[in-house]
Amino acid sequence: MERTEIKDVLAKAKAGDKIVVAGWIKSVRESKSVGFVHLNDGSTFDSLQIVVPEGFVGRDRILKQITGAALVAKGTLVASPGKGQTFDLEPASIEILGECDPSSPVQKSGTSFEFLRGVAHMRPRTNTFGAVFRTRAELSYAVHQFFRDRGFVMCHSPILTTSDCEGAGALFQVSTLDAEKPPRGPDGKIDWSQDFFGEKTGLTVSGQLEAEILAMSLSKVYTFGPTFRAEPSTTPRHAAEFWMIEPEFAFADIDDDRALAEAFVKHLIEHVFKHCERDLRFFDERIEKGLRAKLEAVAKAEFGVIEYTKAVEVLKKSGRRWNYPVEWGGDLQTEHERYLTEEYAERPLFVVGYPRSLKPFYMYCNDDGKTVACMDLLVPRVGELIGGSQREHRLDVLLARMKETGIDPEAYSWYADLRRYGTVPHAGFGLGFERMLMYVTGMENIRDVALCPRVPGSAKF
Ligand code: 4AD
Ligand code: MG
Repeated sequence: MERTEIKDVLAKAKAGDKIVVAGWIKSVRESKSVGFVHLNDGSTFDSLQIVVPEGFVGRDRILKQITGAALVAKGTLVASPGKGQTFDLEPASIEILGECDPSSPVQKSGTSFEFLRGVAHMRPRTNTFGAVFRTRAELSYAVHQFFRDRGFVMCHSPILTTSDCEGAGALFQVSTLDAEKPPRGPDGKIDWSQDFFGEKTGLTVSGQLEAEILAMSLSKVYTFGPTFRAEPSTTPRHAAEFWMIEPEFAFADIDDDRALAEAFVKHLIEHVFKHCERDLRFFDERIEKGLRAKLEAVAKAEFGVIEYTKAVEVLKKSGRRWNYPVEWGGDLQTEHERYLTEEYAERPLFVVGYPRSLKPFYMYCNDDGKTVACMDLLVPRVGELIGGSQREHRLDVLLARMKETGIDPEAYSWYADLRRYGTVPHAGFGLGFERMLMYVTGMENIRDVALCPRVPGSAKF
């Protein structure tokens, strides 16, 4: 169908243009004898107003349509005498493509996000979710642009893997064995050697380790793909399936890593300012008041940096009563992270140098023998947005760390080979794409920035 997208109509067309538009009805109303139909095709936030005069062919049927019905209209653009829009469409013909049954769950505006999660297949029809998914697409483009402009090579890390990068045991297992009657060895245990891949395999928790393979020849690479964690977390910031962006680059240390992470976050924010203007205005007015000013400040400010050891002191001296006590050696909980970024630093804050006992085997061990060269970027409201580190590139230290953390050196011998054959200092990080989207849209729940969110107890749609 030859049609003009409403985005182009609103941005580029002139009064007098003859056009065809197609979309879904946002609203229908009648005032005096004139009918007004607001049509949206998702190409932009705003709708085009179609003015249906008295005596128009099929007028009664058109004005009986409800929010959600689909139609195609041909007509002429005229300067709108009304407020709120530049043009109206004076239709020559309107064809209803699909009526909308009144049982449609997205009839009313103002329905709660929680309700809409139950009808996730219908929620993109609402203003909020239209804006979220347009912004998500723009943000995704901005990711590739940032790295491509800096000479990073895109790498497709595998989704099926036998390695558990974060060593947290949160792997979803993938198997073709008969779940009810798996083959068993003489010891009664399941014989995974008979499984599809000949050993226990799962969905990746991170593309990092494989990205390191390519970084050890192409120097600068990044992956951007789906990652999976079988953690039973039901917080508004955790999903079982999420997308992660993971750059990995050679001849780099933790300071280079931090600088790249900061430039990356700022680039993403600036891209949203440039390319999601209309949707951002909506988020600023309706989702998080003051969002735009906040993001503007973040794009300009220098991010804070604090050593983990210092952060522990700050938390102890804060005078707060914590639900989880703070001690050197303990992980920072959400309440601690939020305090540090929202109240102590009042801006994005890198916490660096965590105790090595808290972190995976691949992180570079600092000379103090206690900490690793790692960083977490904490941002107000969302918490941890980025986790990254310099990598342990010294073979002997890496092997010792595998032993210390209970990693089977046999299973990761390929990873050690990267150190055996021309090792170089290198670093990388992972940015949670949905968390970034929450940050720039003001949406408070990760379930509301993914098309079909996967969380414990739900993989519907
Ligand atoms: O801190 P994480 O676990 O780091 C890694 O996976 C490293 N291998 C990354 C690297 O160095 N290449 O995860 C990185 C980021 C977190 O900071 C967070 O933004 C996001 O991924 N993330 C999640 N997002 C949504 N739901 C979850 N369950 C998440 N777990 C981590
Ligand atoms: Mg982390």
